[in-house]
Amino acid sequence: MDRPVIRPSTPFGPRRPLLCAATALALVTGGLSAAAAAGPATVGEQVAKNSDCFSCHAVDHRVVGPAFDAVAAKYAGKPGAKTLLMNAVKNGHVGTWGQIPMPAHPKLSPQQLDEVITWVLSLKPAASAKSGAAAATAAAAKTYSYQVEGKPVLLNFPVFQAGGKKVTPAVFRGFELFNSYCFRCHGVDATGSEYAPDLRKSVINGMTEAKMTDIAMTGIKAKGMPSWAGFFDPKQLGEIYQYVAARAYKLVDEGTPPQ
Ligand code: HEC
Ligand code: HEC
Repeated sequence: MDRPVIRPSTPFGPRRPLLCAATALALVTGGLSAAAAAGPATVGEQVAKNSDCFSCHAVDHRVVGPAFDAVAAKYAGKPGAKTLLMNAVKNGHVGTWGQIPMPAHPKLSPQQLDEVITWVLSLKPAASAKSGAAAATAAAAKTYSYQVEGKPVLLNFPVFQAGGKKVTPAVFRGFELFNSYCFRCHGVDATGSEYAPDLRKSVINGMTEAKMTDIAMTGIKAKGMPSWAGFFDPKQLGEIYQYVAARAYKLVDEGTPPQ
């Protein structure tokens, strides 16, 4: 591949040509510009994004699988960790972090496995755990209060857009996703059916977003509840949760919510 022409008048100094080369490479390979320009660690992150990793993992908290920074902490300084983890992802694994198995990833090349594990092991547990905790505290501190039938309902996410009766885009997407994928068994507009529980009751009885995400990712195969891992990411399941919770607390009626 040709190197880009370096203009003598460039104000960026000696690092400029390197960045240009990386960007040009990214344009050729397609869609990787930010990752390639930022170095090998984020190339691995891009592999994770292009595969199904983030449907079960997050960087700083457990989803179905362990937090990636917890994996980095567990294997820090252990000889052979990289090979062990590459094999775990390639062949599938169970038992180290619990009884839920990770599926095999036969389509990832040795290079992609190397890149993604290099990235996972590069994560700084202390720093991201701290920012994760800080984010969690900030999220917990932020509550939204609504009056329903004269009683206050406290939620840690907004149901409505500022100053109006229109629901947030997240709640609206939750409505769309629910009525595309969950309604068949859990009833149109989360009203329940003979096939599956009324998820509004699950929320009223204390089901958190994390718990619902966990169940939806894992599925309950023996009882006919499918696993949505690889199909939805945690953010989308969070949107479904927000819609179901809004319905549970009677903030949103049956039918299309105002948007
Ligand atoms: C369907 C859910 C699921 C998907 C998809 C998934 N994982 Fe996992 N992952 C898990 C679970 C569950 C575990 C815990 C396995 C265990 O206890 O040994 C795990 C464990 C791991 C571990 C630690 C293994 C060990 O031996 O300690 C790494 C590293 C990992 N996953 C990376 C990845 C990467 C990279 C991808 C994407 C290419 C990925 N996972 C996709 C569920 C998943
Ligand atoms: C093919 C039918 C089917 C579909 C589609 C389906 N579910 Fe389920 N789901 C079930 C069944 C059946 C159960 C009850 C399993 C049991 O008895 O333990 C269940 C249980 C659950 C539970 C546990 C409820 C509780 O109180 O324990 C959650 C959460 C859940 N489903 C979420 C979802 C979400 C979110 C979707 C859409 C993305 C979805 N389900 C789509 C059949 C389905």
